[in-house]
Formats: sequence, C-alpha cells, structure tokens
Amino acid sequence: MNKPNLCIAKDRKKVKIEYKEQNLELKPIYKGKKYFLRTYGCQMNVHDSEEIRYYLESLGYEKTDILENADIVVLNTCAIRENAKDKVFGYLGRCKHLKQTKKDLIICLCGCLMQLPNEVEGIINNHKFVDIVIGTHNINELPKLIMELNNDQKIEVYSNSNEVNENIKYSRDSKISAWINIQYGCDKFCTYCIVPFTRGRERSRKIENIIQEAKELKEEGYQEITLLGQNVNAYGKDLNLGYNFATLLEEVAKIGISRVRFVTSHPWNFTDEMIDIIAKYDNIMPYIHLPLQSGSDDILRKMNRRYNKEEYKNLFTKIKEKIPNVSITTDIIVGFPNETEEDFQDTLDMVDYCKYDSAYTFIYSKREGTYAATLEDKISDEEKSKRLQILNKKVNAYALEANKKLIGKTVEVLIIDKSEKGEDKVCGYTDTMKLVNVIGKEYLIGKIIKVKITDAKSFSLDGIMLDN
Ligand code: 5AD
Ligand code: SF4
Repeated sequence: MNKPNLCIAKDRKKVKIEYKEQNLELKPIYKGKKYFLRTYGCQMNVHDSEEIRYYLESLGYEKTDILENADIVVLNTCAIRENAKDKVFGYLGRCKHLKQTKKDLIICLCGCLMQLPNEVEGIINNHKFVDIVIGTHNINELPKLIMELNNDQKIEVYSNSNEVNENIKYSRDSKISAWINIQYGCDKFCTYCIVPFTRGRERSRKIENIIQEAKELKEEGYQEITLLGQNVNAYGKDLNLGYNFATLLEEVAKIGISRVRFVTSHPWNFTDEMIDIIAKYDNIMPYIHLPLQSGSDDILRKMNRRYNKEEYKNLFTKIKEKIPNVSITTDIIVGFPNETEEDFQDTLDMVDYCKYDSAYTFIYSKREGTYAATLEDKISDEEKSKRLQILNKKVNAYALEANKKLIGKTVEVLIIDKSEKGEDKVCGYTDTMKLVNVIGKEYLIGKIIKVKITDAKSFSLDGIMLDN
C-alpha cells in the first residue's frame, strides 16, 4: 500500500501562494459505468461536488441517483458538527453492504472529514472496503487515483494550503445559478470551528480569473452568481495587490449579470465600502448572511469572534439604514461550553433586536482539535436542547413576521425549479433569498418574473404571477 499522506492543516506559515493553472486531459474510459455522488455540508462542499462531477463525467461515468446502480460511490463529507459525521458513517454502512454483493464497486471518501488524521486512521483500520480517500486540497487527483486503483486503499490527503488551483472545470448542478469560489480556507480560528483545520489558510483567487469566470457564466446564460468564501470580507488581503472584496464585488456587478450575491461575510471586517457598493448596484442582491453566533459579549470573546454585541448591533443598523429592503439572516450557536442562562438571554435579546429574516441555529458540537474542545462544559444536553427550542420558536416567529410584510407586495422572483407544493406550481427566490411558490408552468424556469405575494409562512411565500 502506498504510504498514507496524513497531516492536519496547521501549517499557517505565510509563504507566497502558488497559482496553478489546471489542465487535465481526461478520456471517457469508463463509458457505460455509473457514479453516485452524495454531498454533505455547506455550499463550499456543494461546489466542490460540481468539480468532482466534472471529473467523473469526463472519465465517462454517468450519473445515477440509485446507490445500488452505481459503479463508483463518492461521499463528499462534512466535519462541522458531530451529526454531519454520523450521517456519513451511517451511509457508509449502506455502501459496505452493497460492496459485499458488488465486488467491483469503488468507494471514495473526500471532503472536510478526510482532512482530519483521526478520521482517516479510522478508515484505514476499520473500513478497509473504502478504496479512495482524498482531502479538500487535492480533489483534482481523483481521476488519477481512480485510474491507478488496484487492490490497495489509496489515501492521499494534504495540508497544502499555499496553492490555489485556477481554471478548475465544473459540471454545474444548475444552468441558472452558479457558484464562484473567490477564496479558500479561513484564518479566523473561531474557537469552536474545525474549518481552519480542514480547509487551511485563507487564500484568494486572482481577481482577473474570477472576473473571467463570471463573464463566461453570463455568456452561458446564467442569471445569478454567488461569490463563495468562508469569509469573503477578507478577500484580497493575502494578495496585497491593492484590491479588496468591495473592489471585486463592484467589478463583478459591472459585468451585468442579473443577480450577484455572496456568502459568507464576517461581522468583524464588514466595511462601509462594501455596504456602499451593495447599495449602489441594483444587481447586487440586498441579502446578507451575517453570522451572530452568540449575543453574549463573554461568549463572543470566548469564541474569538472579534466583535461585541454593540459592534454587531451598530453594523446591523448601518446595513439596514443604507441598503433599502435588505434581508439579513444569521447563524446562532447555543450551548457553547458553560453558556449561562444570562448569556443565552443575551442571544434572545439580540434576536429581538435584529428580527432576522431567518436564522440557522445549532447546538454547539465539540470538535476535537479546536480550542473550545479543551474547555470544561457543565451544561447538560437536555438544557442545550431546551435552549435551542426556545430560540427556534423566536427565530421562526420573526421569519414569519418578515414574510408577512410582503403579502400584497410585488416582488421579482428568479424561477429555478418545479415546486414541491403542487403540479401546477414552480418555485424560485426573491432577490432577498425568500423562497416563493408560484402558480405557473415549467417554461418559466430560468426567468425572473414579477409575482404578487398572496400568503406567507415562516419558510416560504405563495404568489401569483403578474403580466410580465
Ligand atoms: N458546533 C455547532 N455549530 C457550529 N458551527 C460551526 N462550528 C460549529 C460547532 N462546532 C456553525 C456556525 C457557523 C455555521 C456554518 O456552523 O454557526 O456559522
Ligand atoms: Fe469557522 Fe469562524 Fe472561519 Fe466561519 S469565520 S469558517 S465560523 S473559523
């Protein structure tokens, strides 16, 4: 067996980033075979899976949604919380079962979980039926490893975060809305978060390559692009070339694609310049995901979030004042080690202040290797669940309140798919990222149409199409 290459992404030395143009020539040598790809986790993983799809399809594999029909299974894993890991291993059990009857089945694990040495050692020792393991830094090696596969497990995981691959090709899930990576990794080291370890140091793509990619997507007819990074506000800092996220956002908006948005921005260095650019361009969506994490100053400090509740409130208010009709969503963690009843109350107060359009809420999950994992925690799981329920109730009530304000209003909706809410319906998003179900036919998919909102729920709106 080739020596497993295991190392956690802890090498943070700021050496010059090497930009590599990628030019893989792949032949469809596996024509007639099928791939099954399952993605866990965030948008970053979803987009990485579009790269994986490109490689598999270039090698001739066809997509199947039925596990049992697959010749190769790829699980793109997530490490953010323990339950994400549990889901992967639950599914891996199904794959193992299938492999008992289908000896030629190739099983590949990739993504964030595979950047953690303990997990990979577990695969080597306890899951010998897994054929290929790759990490987040070398997805492009997947075709090579598939082609070189013999009876040995192939484990290739690096912590090389001094490289950026440019010219990556994707087989995109959508023809309407596309992701563009603008930056990889994260240097923020929030104390609960495993991402800086799984994705490595913060590194930006070159602006000219991003602009080129956006132009090509516009020419291909894409209506919406989302600029993707763990912390987009830090875009460009590592390059020191005189441009920043605001510059990039403006340049992308000027290309004239109908909708531009970005995720995720950190409240710490969200600049006035960014707010002004968002307000200035009609095609930059008035939608900002601004993770709060906690409303308690003490917990925010222990989380290493670099802002306090006053600073967050000031930023929040400034954004609301300067960007008309902006919708702001957030992430909140309850049950950080030793979060007191008062800390939790501070979080609830903050939700009352911000009245978020929607919020993703989580119970703190201990991640080995992070600073928070070393903290003593006396709060019971039961108490944490109770807090989550209280928080969710509040968050959902405000989401409903925000949605109800739209009843009777006319909004523009980018239709993306058939609706699950009925044969005669399609669905799409407003420019504030609210899901709308509209009576209409499939020919509307890909179009931006005017819709009058007729009803509101916590997580979606109903509407009727107006003459467009
Ligand atoms: N436990 C719970 N939630 C977490 N997040 C990140 N790490 C953890 C953890 N260890 C949440 C944060 C982040 C979102 C993507 O996931 O709220 O913003
Ligand atoms: Fe994790 Fe914080 Fe980086 Fe977000 S900014 S990826 S929460 S370390």
